[in-house]
Amino acid sequence: MSDVTLTIIKPDAVAAGATGTILARLEAEGFTIRGLKKLHLTPAQARAFYEVHAGKDFFDSLVAFMTSGPVVVAALRRENAVQHLRDVMGPTDATKAPADTIRGQHGSSIEKNAIHGSDSDANAALETAFFFARAELVA
Ligand code: RTP
Ligand code: MG
Repeated sequence: MSDVTLTIIKPDAVAAGATGTILARLEAEGFTIRGLKKLHLTPAQARAFYEVHAGKDFFDSLVAFMTSGPVVVAALRRENAVQHLRDVMGPTDATKAPADTIRGQHGSSIEKNAIHGSDSDANAALETAFFFARAELVA
């Protein structure tokens, strides 16, 4: 099991001023930050990142949402990183997320759900490489 994962604080949470609160929660959960950057995704970047969802009903809306404002991307390290981040995020539909999860606290719908987390070790590696060069990551 790998100990790294990739998170995106999505445009809704960044616009709400929740970046610091969410990063503090992740650090309190034992994650260390290997790399961190703020950027405004282009439509091509958002389509490429969520390529697995291309063709689904919600894809165009997802791309519009993810490009609606800046995001903050963080490469994270922790034991059992992928699963623990998914647990702390809560379910995709923020309206069904427990109140102590990041989506429960900062999300508002099944789309505007505040945070992304890699769903497997393989995708964590691919997604980290999508955003970060090796020289931009600490050990
Ligand atoms: P993520 O990839 O962002 O961590 O979210 P997830 O694994 O919990 O959910 P996923 O199925 O991968 O969906 C990716 C993102 O697409 C938006 N979505 N909208 N309108 C809808 O039915 C719908 N379903 C998904 C959400 O922003 C979701 O996080
Ligand atoms: Mg996903």
